[in-house]
Amino acid sequence: MNLDLTGKTAFVCGSTQGIGKATAIELALLGANIILVARNEEKLKEVLDELPRKKGQKHRYLLVDFSKTNQIKPKIENFLAKYPEAHILINNTGGPLGGAVIEASPEQFVQTFNEHVISAQILTQAVVSSMKNAGFGRIINITSVGMKQPIVGLGVSNTIRGAMGSWAKSMANELGKFGITTNNVLPGYTTTGRLKKVNEMRAASTSKTVAEVEQELIKDIPIGRFTTPQETAAVIAFLCSPAAASVNGVSIPVDGGKTSSL
Ligand SMILES: NC(=O)c1ccc[n+]([C@@H]2O[C@H](COP(=O)([O-])OP(=O)(O)OC[C@H]3O[C@@H](n4cnc5c(N)ncnc54)[C@H](OP(=O)(O)O)[C@@H]3O)[C@@H](O)[C@H]2O)c1
Repeated sequence: MNLDLTGKTAFVCGSTQGIGKATAIELALLGANIILVARNEEKLKEVLDELPRKKGQKHRYLLVDFSKTNQIKPKIENFLAKYPEAHILINNTGGPLGGAVIEASPEQFVQTFNEHVISAQILTQAVVSSMKNAGFGRIINITSVGMKQPIVGLGVSNTIRGAMGSWAKSMANELGKFGITTNNVLPGYTTTGRLKKVNEMRAASTSKTVAEVEQELIKDIPIGRFTTPQETAAVIAFLCSPAAASVNGVSIPVDGGKTSSL
């Protein structure tokens, strides 16, 4: 099976921690040159130092805040003017706030739509010509199992994940003929800073301890534990590989079997 990414350049968004960071490491292990993308420059530099370089790679970083939509296009275009190669794009950012959907403001929907879907659109438009020239492209969106089975208390997230799924399927249909695949990876409960924060909030609002909240969640996961970011990254890395050339327009949960739909 060909998993070799030597000579490929991967933009990995939201890569200062969690699933994005684990993905950047995994892709670097397979030989890719990594462009880390996030807001926190200090953390970007730290992760940059940690990335594997055994295959002679050059890794870089790009400072972007996806909540400032009008800054994304000039930033990515300036970067590509200097370093024009792009073969892999991992669309990933922080998760939306929780709360009852009936209480969510219209602005919250617009902000989240911009941060997730519009950012992915702007980044994809910027990198697609490089992918077409190479006859190789991999676009992977990190969404949520809420895309298949809406999660209670995450109404804004559920809504935007659905939009992202439709965006990705449309892109997969249009770009497949250029050797560019577009797929979604849907994390379930994954041991990152995001899950820690969400569980602390659940505990605070129910007078349970964080450990009790975690045990309740784990009860419903067939493998009996949370997923690690490295396990999610392994699936993402496979989808990025030459071996996955025929996997296009799919949404793969990495959730220990929790999602109950087929
Ligand atoms: N962990 C889970 O259990 C779980 C479950 C289902 C779905 N998900 C989804 O999977 C995705 C990744 O989750 P995670 O747990 O890895 O998240 P995380 O640990 O919170 O990491 C989020 C990453 O995104 C970056 N980021 C956040 N806001 C940004 C912005 N406005 N502009 C640019 N970068 C931004 C952060 O870096 P900076 O702060 O440096 O910018 C960080 O590197 C999210 O959409 C999340 O909702 C996670």
